[in-house]
Amino acid sequence: MASCHFICNQNLFYPSNNTFRKSHLPYFRPHGSSSTHSKLHFKRTPVVKAANKKIEIVYDTDERINKLADEVDKEAPLSRLTLFSPCKVNVFLRITRKREDGYHDLASLFHVISLGDVIKFSLSPSNKDRLSTNVPGVPLDERNLIIKALNLYRKKTGSKSYFWIHLDKKVPTGAGLGGGSSNAATALWAANQFNGCSATEKELQEWSSEIGSDIPFFFSHGAAYCTGRGEVVEDLSPPVSLDIPMVLIKPQEACSTAEVYKRFRLDQTSKVDPLTLLEKISTNGISQDVCINDLEPPAFEVLPSLKQLKQRVITAGRGQYDAVFMSGSGSTIVGIGSPDPPQFVYDEDDYRDVFLSEANFITREPNEWYKQPASANVSCQPSEVSGTFQ
Ligand code: C5P
Repeated sequence: MASCHFICNQNLFYPSNNTFRKSHLPYFRPHGSSSTHSKLHFKRTPVVKAANKKIEIVYDTDERINKLADEVDKEAPLSRLTLFSPCKVNVFLRITRKREDGYHDLASLFHVISLGDVIKFSLSPSNKDRLSTNVPGVPLDERNLIIKALNLYRKKTGSKSYFWIHLDKKVPTGAGLGGGSSNAATALWAANQFNGCSATEKELQEWSSEIGSDIPFFFSHGAAYCTGRGEVVEDLSPPVSLDIPMVLIKPQEACSTAEVYKRFRLDQTSKVDPLTLLEKISTNGISQDVCINDLEPPAFEVLPSLKQLKQRVITAGRGQYDAVFMSGSGSTIVGIGSPDPPQFVYDEDDYRDVFLSEANFITREPNEWYKQPASANVSCQPSEVSGTFQ
């Protein structure tokens, strides 16, 4: 009898040495955690019940067990958290003005996609963050946006928590995919989970613009019309089907965002109203004529081989892609409509080192972080990440 779990007056009493709790429940269950969010899947769970001094076995339901597990988990302190940190593409990107502060006003359809990094956070016993990663060349100090984000969070909230962070990098940098911006948004989300969600998502979004123009977008639900220098985010219900496959092709050479913007000239831009582009996409889907990126001309100046790559993908695709365009400030070329790159990318030595990945659009649920899709991070090449990391 001593080892039984009792249900009395709707309360479940856990014996102090509760093997059920320890072996079956995750240690913590924060919002959006990818590795620890596992509901229990017993069809009917036996529970021993004391009634009129007789012991009878009754069966409890999944629902009730999970509710109790949730209640217990809420009490448990958070010590580790693993989150997916997905990247984005800009389906179109119009630049409308150069501003006095040196930045440019833009109007762009940003969409989160299924390619992403995985970041593991655990509470540090000291008052120092420690960052490690799986690829060489990533700065691990204050220059890294993850550390910047954690410093920002502590400054804004007074939190005294520091972290050990491991960044499993899949998204190449200097790619126009917002990989670093996503890492920063993910770190702010994580720090807030460890701090009992004391800040609202809106606050995290506002604060994040202090450390990068593209970070606030990741606090949308995955699809957004962004204006200003990128930080004015209007959440959209996804204007495109999430099932559309795409291929990402990034040459080894990276494009520096600052360098691309430096070469940008307003007289080289399209004049089409970005809201018309958005409307066309919502009505008719993605096609070549709506995927306008005003940063292509300056990026092609920085990296002339990129212009050729885009052209060759269009030609070789022979209708395989609904649209081919550069994302952000480059150097990734996106082919929408097929997960496969054109054959020449495999055949020619010049493209031996390109980064290739298939992907699709994704979104997130309210109050949860992005989840890693089962099919995420499928690389089409033997070398999983052949892009450069800085
Ligand atoms: O804000 P973020 O650090 O991502 O921007 C990197 C650089 O890109 C900025 O220093 C600026 O030169 C340029 N930029 C811009 N206009 C934007 C976004 C970025 O000129 N809207």
